[in-house]
Amino acid sequence: MYTEKVMDHFTNPRNVGEIPDADGIGEVGNAKCGDIMKMYLKIEDGVVVDVKFKTFGCGSAIASSSMATEMIKGKTIKEVLALTNKAVAEALDGLPPVKMHCSVLAEQAVKSALLDYSKRSGVAIPELEGFE
Ligand code: FES
Ligand code: FES
Repeated sequence: MYTEKVMDHFTNPRNVGEIPDADGIGEVGNAKCGDIMKMYLKIEDGVVVDVKFKTFGCGSAIASSSMATEMIKGKTIKEVLALTNKAVAEALDGLPPVKMHCSVLAEQAVKSALLDYSKRSGVAIPELEGFE
């Protein structure tokens, strides 16, 4: 049912934890399953220099957030904005259809953290207009 990559990121998740002096913190929840994801970003000169996450949720949510952190580390805000849940799921070699919403949670957690960064820093991110 789960790919090797999903199992790998579930049993050995990357970038777990918190960033105490984060520049942006995102928190999203899924109403359907009750899972919660928190994402911490450290941003310097428009680049995500560090990222950590905490997920109170299922294995697919943990694997998705772990993979998402790897995909956005070292990337510019523009590149991070282009991250879709589909890309996260593909990077994991696929998720079962009933588990696709777990990757949506990861994409939303990243965007929510960027929005928080934008509010705190005053750096406008027009792409996030309407997101929340
Ligand atoms: Fe808890 Fe499935 S929702 S085990
Ligand atoms: Fe809800 Fe995975 S079952 S995030």
